[in-house]
Amino acid sequence: MIDTHATAPPREPLARQLARRKPIEQMVAGAGTDGTANSGKLKRSLGVWQLTMISVGATLGTGIFVVLGSSVPMAGPAVWISFLIAGVAALLSAVSYAEMAGAVPVSGSSYSYTYATMGEGLAWVCGWCLVLEYGVSVAAVAVGSAEYVNETLNIFGLSLPAALSAPPGGADGSMINLPAVVLVLLAMVLLIRGVSEAAWVNTIMVVIKIGVLLLFIGIAFSAFQASHYETLLPMGAAGMSAAASRLFFSYIGFDAASTAGEEAKNPQRDLPRAIIASMAIVTGIYILVAIAAVGARQWDWFDGTEAALLIILQELTGAKWISLIFAIGAVVAIASVVLTVLYGQTRILMTMARDGMVPRVLGRVSQRTGTPAAGTLICGSVIAVIAGLIPLGQLADATSIGTLFAFMLVNLSVIYLRRARPDMERTFRVPLFPYVPLLGAGMCVYLMVNLGLSTWWVFLAWMAVGALVYLGYGRRHSVASLAARRETVDSDDARPAN
Ligand code: ALA
Repeated sequence: MIDTHATAPPREPLARQLARRKPIEQMVAGAGTDGTANSGKLKRSLGVWQLTMISVGATLGTGIFVVLGSSVPMAGPAVWISFLIAGVAALLSAVSYAEMAGAVPVSGSSYSYTYATMGEGLAWVCGWCLVLEYGVSVAAVAVGSAEYVNETLNIFGLSLPAALSAPPGGADGSMINLPAVVLVLLAMVLLIRGVSEAAWVNTIMVVIKIGVLLLFIGIAFSAFQASHYETLLPMGAAGMSAAASRLFFSYIGFDAASTAGEEAKNPQRDLPRAIIASMAIVTGIYILVAIAAVGARQWDWFDGTEAALLIILQELTGAKWISLIFAIGAVVAIASVVLTVLYGQTRILMTMARDGMVPRVLGRVSQRTGTPAAGTLICGSVIAVIAGLIPLGQLADATSIGTLFAFMLVNLSVIYLRRARPDMERTFRVPLFPYVPLLGAGMCVYLMVNLGLSTWWVFLAWMAVGALVYLGYGRRHSVASLAARRETVDSDDARPAN
């Protein structure tokens, strides 16, 4: 008799394997470990407050501290409406995330939702997009930290040597972006130590960054001039829309809580709440900061002004200590984005490793720390090297396109799952179904189409590499496909011979 378990059964046709879905019940049952005997279990330590802080931590950062400054000249005083438009686009997808996170409470975020609904092929595409959204954006966001570290040092009359503040090819004689490397490595060490420690550090950092933005809002409103709003749309509606596309970046990250499905104490109840709450907090702060900033300074003042919020504070108060607090707050803000987004990346890769889509080492949970320690070390090291040595440029733009693609798939997953599993328990339901997820998916396509051609080329190249990685690894190691093939062989064996 042939032992079918000793030899791998014959491979499935590619089309059938790409369409193979992973049953939700199997996902939830297998959650927590990589399924091997020497693996530990993830700790369920996060409550709704920490989950909300993870999403706010991953969202509120470079967008408001840096990108706002370059968006005001595009939109004029209507920049707050641009924030609102981008926020509505993000919210449409956020409610879909909330429904899926409540229904499929595992750590793979949209990768897992797509695997459960649209099959292995699109799940791989989604997971590969998430590496863009999370991995590449950690590097991109960390790269921006050097500027703020320098702003902080400048207040003391110091500055980083050029060799240590930019990657090769940047400033004269630049060699490495040291602040970016240090930031990523610190986040990595914290995440290896334990998720509850990392979550607490993140919560403190989020409170600090919200605090400095509230400080800004308060001071800027004290110098508010209504005349700055006399002409709302000096650059027309087109300028406002272009700014909205650019500001979409500032909402990326609200989905980070959905990568914590297996470390949440009550994921079904708390994940949807955390996602919606974080969106509300972030949108409110963005709009207030934008209104206050343009109220304090004419919109054309922002043209070519780097670190605009910091300069407004300096000019309005003349107090060094306020600038110092704000500059430190900006560094902290970037650090918390790096921490939470790196966290998300490790959890997504952990889930993909469990499914056999990427090497298993990325999914091994340490028995000592209860975290995917080896995967975090690998991810953190690779991202630190990228952040330190590569000027990201176009690759960073590709972050948005990858994110939008993943968001679109989540909106479609909601529609699929409502039709395929209408009776399934859902702790949160998208309102006005199916219009909201349809509109959400449409909005993602619209924003993707608006991105430049060069961004599309980078995206297509990334996808081509992804296809090769899938064919070379995922297709051969897919756990769901292997299980299905074994089942077929077993049932063939059990069938009586004629
Ligand atoms: N939303 C994140 C930020 O603005 C990426 O930094």
